Amino acid sequence: MEPVEIKPGIYWVGGIDWDVRNFHGYLTQRGATYNAYLIMDEKIVLVDTVKHYLFDEMLARIREVVDPSKIDYVVSNHVEMDHSGNLAKILELAPDAKVVTSPNGEKGLRRHYKEDWDFVVVKSGDTINIGKRTMQFFLTPMVHWPDNMVTYLPEAKILLSNDAFGQHIATPERFDDEIGWNVLYEEAAKYYANIVFPYGDQVKKALDALSGLDIEIVAPGHGLIWRTYIPKILEAYQKWATNTAENRAVIIYDTMWGSTEKMAHSLRAGLEKAGIPVTMRNLKTLHISDIMADVLRSKAILVGSPTLNNGIFPPVGAFLTYLKGLRPKNRIGFAFGSYGWGGQAVKEMETIMNDLGWDMPVEGVKIQYIPDEEELDEVKEAGKELGEVIKKE
Ligand code: FEO
Repeated sequence: MEPVEIKPGIYWVGGIDWDVRNFHGYLTQRGATYNAYLIMDEKIVLVDTVKHYLFDEMLARIREVVDPSKIDYVVSNHVEMDHSGNLAKILELAPDAKVVTSPNGEKGLRRHYKEDWDFVVVKSGDTINIGKRTMQFFLTPMVHWPDNMVTYLPEAKILLSNDAFGQHIATPERFDDEIGWNVLYEEAAKYYANIVFPYGDQVKKALDALSGLDIEIVAPGHGLIWRTYIPKILEAYQKWATNTAENRAVIIYDTMWGSTEKMAHSLRAGLEKAGIPVTMRNLKTLHISDIMADVLRSKAILVGSPTLNNGIFPPVGAFLTYLKGLRPKNRIGFAFGSYGWGGQAVKEMETIMNDLGWDMPVEGVKIQYIPDEEELDEVKEAGKELGEVIKKE
């Protein structure tokens, strides 16, 4: 694919990763894109440098526009190696280029690459004039690492947002309206849920800091470039950053002999009786990263595990470990499961939900061996009770 001119003199020159299906534990069924941007002005600027194995692809696109030795600045909005992976190689081709980055960016790049490059360290509000245009920088710590920053081009009204507003998707299209809102919303939600979820407070601060800017294009470090759905994606980020969930439930479970699964479906029936939409997520058939968008969306999170060896069934334990790290707030929790003789899993799951600060208005349920009809009716009743609580939220 040729470089794509997103505004006069400003080009997408990134790399498309058609093959990646697991991005350190996050399943990327649609592949991924690592975006880099080239700004042609009196000074020539490259923003971010894509993942290491896509160097040739990025370089070919840069060469379509300019001889890379003419690059004056390389802006490193983020140290993580999917964005900085080719910094050293680019600086070999453009040895006089300065590296523009945040204070934590400089520290991180030095730790990663052990090089004494010509750093220009910027803080929020700093500007660099590059001719007809200006680059303005805003630090956005923890969206996604401590070093993150975004680059704003006021004359072009473009925000180069790095990890913020990204989606993992490989496409020949470059703009949001060429794909459509539904697919992009799905991928943006999955991305937020698996990567940005713990940092809602910092996202909120970043959104506030950027709220006064005149923006026509949001060009993230991953996926499609936003030009049509900017209000929609900003609204979604506001909602996610404030942990605002919908009055719906997700039931996440695994089962050994089918008893916990029976309980899961009785809970579903009870919640539905109370008018609450329920999504069922069986950990035997779904990867943990494919469930987090449901957690992002749902007010009530019900988790079911059989007790194995006096504890949580390991597939559910893996999910809960992942969940704990992503720290969803303002949720209603409910734990359930079958057991043979110990039954400790429910208590252990409740401890995790408690540590997350979730409300648990209805007591969890455990049933020995195989639930009978009467017990399943009681489980259904617990689901209905929970549904009534959710409705009042
Ligand atoms: Fe896309 Fe935090 O790297």
